[in-house]
Amino acid sequence: MEVLEGTKSCHISIFLCSALLLLGVLGPIPAHGRLQIKQKPNPDNAVATARWLVSQNLWGVLSTISSELGGVPFGCRNVVSFSDGLPGEGHGIPYFYLTALDPTARDALKNMSSSLTLSEVPLGSCGKIDPENPTCAKLTLNGKLKLVDVKTPEGKFALSALFAKHAEMKNWPKEHNFQIFKLDIEHIFLIDWFGGPKPLTPYQYFNPGK
Ligand SMILES: *[C@@H]1O[C@H](CO)[C@@H](O)[C@H](O)[C@H]1NC(C)=O
Repeated sequence: MEVLEGTKSCHISIFLCSALLLLGVLGPIPAHGRLQIKQKPNPDNAVATARWLVSQNLWGVLSTISSELGGVPFGCRNVVSFSDGLPGEGHGIPYFYLTALDPTARDALKNMSSSLTLSEVPLGSCGKIDPENPTCAKLTLNGKLKLVDVKTPEGKFALSALFAKHAEMKNWPKEHNFQIFKLDIEHIFLIDWFGGPKPLTPYQYFNPGK
């Protein structure tokens, strides 16, 4: 029963998303910061492929420790928008704009453990290849989802990075108290070719070419 109720609360986010979508439709037409899709890196270059997936994707699936499911690891999964920098200038850290009206942010405020999953599919470069095919790249970043103070230089950077790629965020309701979160990456899971996951440390991810 508890599980069922938890599932229901998690799905409230769907309604919230619909409300936001509607707002987007009714509000000013968002000048969506469509990224120029840069060439896919060579699959041998795991760091470049991971950074490419993060800088080119506009959204992913963010999973948190579900407080509503009694702490089930990654019991709440949600489609979220993110940005790691201005278009074409990815810095690798995913920033999010979340409201505690949604379980994802509520969970993160209770337990920061979380995981962001991205696929190459939305970028269009997988063509007709099945999303599960190893040559269609996929990335899961595990770490801590942390609040970022909007008044700090990092907060200001994150906000401009988010608004540059998600213009309608600027018009999201003030009373929903959207806050900036970032994923502090601790573990990286990348598949971009046959032969299993590529070993890739956060240090390598943030220091390409080292
Ligand atoms: C967060 O959740 C994980 C997985 O359930 C657990 O191992 C960890 O102890 C929790 N951390 C806190 C601060 O509650």
